[in-house]
Amino acid sequence: MESRCAIIATVHVVQTVAAAIALARNGAERRILVPTMGALHRGHLELIRIARTAAGKEGEVAVSIFVNPLQFAAGGDFEKYPRPETGDEELCRGAGVDILFRPSADEMYTNDFSVAVEENSLSSTLEGKSRPGHFRGVCTVVAKLFHVLAPDAAVFGEKDFQQLAIIRRMVRDLNFRIEIIGAPTVRETDGLACSSRNQYLSPTERQQAPVLRAALLEAARLAGGGERSAAAIIDAARKIINGSPLARIDYLELVNAETLAPIEALEENSLIAVAAFFGQTRLIDNIRL
Ligand code: PAF
Repeated sequence: MESRCAIIATVHVVQTVAAAIALARNGAERRILVPTMGALHRGHLELIRIARTAAGKEGEVAVSIFVNPLQFAAGGDFEKYPRPETGDEELCRGAGVDILFRPSADEMYTNDFSVAVEENSLSSTLEGKSRPGHFRGVCTVVAKLFHVLAPDAAVFGEKDFQQLAIIRRMVRDLNFRIEIIGAPTVRETDGLACSSRNQYLSPTERQQAPVLRAALLEAARLAGGGERSAAAIIDAARKIINGSPLARIDYLELVNAETLAPIEALEENSLIAVAAFFGQTRLIDNIRL
């Protein structure tokens, strides 16, 4: 109980880039960053837990909350993206976060901001194909967060598998001296991957959304049983999703987990990824095969 009180007392909320840059490490050995867009849920709390472990006793955990306009398409859900500031801050406190960096858009992007970071290979499939410019926005903001907060390591969830792969590539290609830690997807009890966007779902959409997980598990079952044809695996998964009247598939693809390029036959390192709309809400999920 005593140590929990100590944790609650020490979260440091920082709202400007200058203050974040000026923030001394207080002798902390390692700083681990968890970049988020807020609306924190159990999935984020798991990222924070992993960061806490990676930081060790003497290290510190920084969480950034920034709804990054650069990674939303015009007409996307940027405006309505949930921003429960007080609740998020409380969750960070309870989770033992040391630094909460919560800048405004003006802080992050000046009016004449004109430089971006672009990954040009892994971004060409899946999310990158459906959401042109999305990963340019993600890479740009993550590069900025890395410079501003100077972490030793950063934690990203595997639900956004392509994002994780692209950040790893950015770190490799631009020589960021930052370790990237991938964290397994956290799920609701019915299998739906935790996401800030789940709260947009109507009760019936929410009821049908676990069909994505069911479809991916069927793909894994077929692959485990020796099926090698991507078309056959995708077909079976598609049938399951199409059994849900509210689901509209955006993509359902089998790719090489390293290159993210589509494959015709199952390889050793394969991944099946799905994006589907339930009403206006777009959900993604994936599973290694
Ligand atoms: O995964 C997210 O929440 C965002 O894409 C990230 C990494 C915080 C960049 O805005």
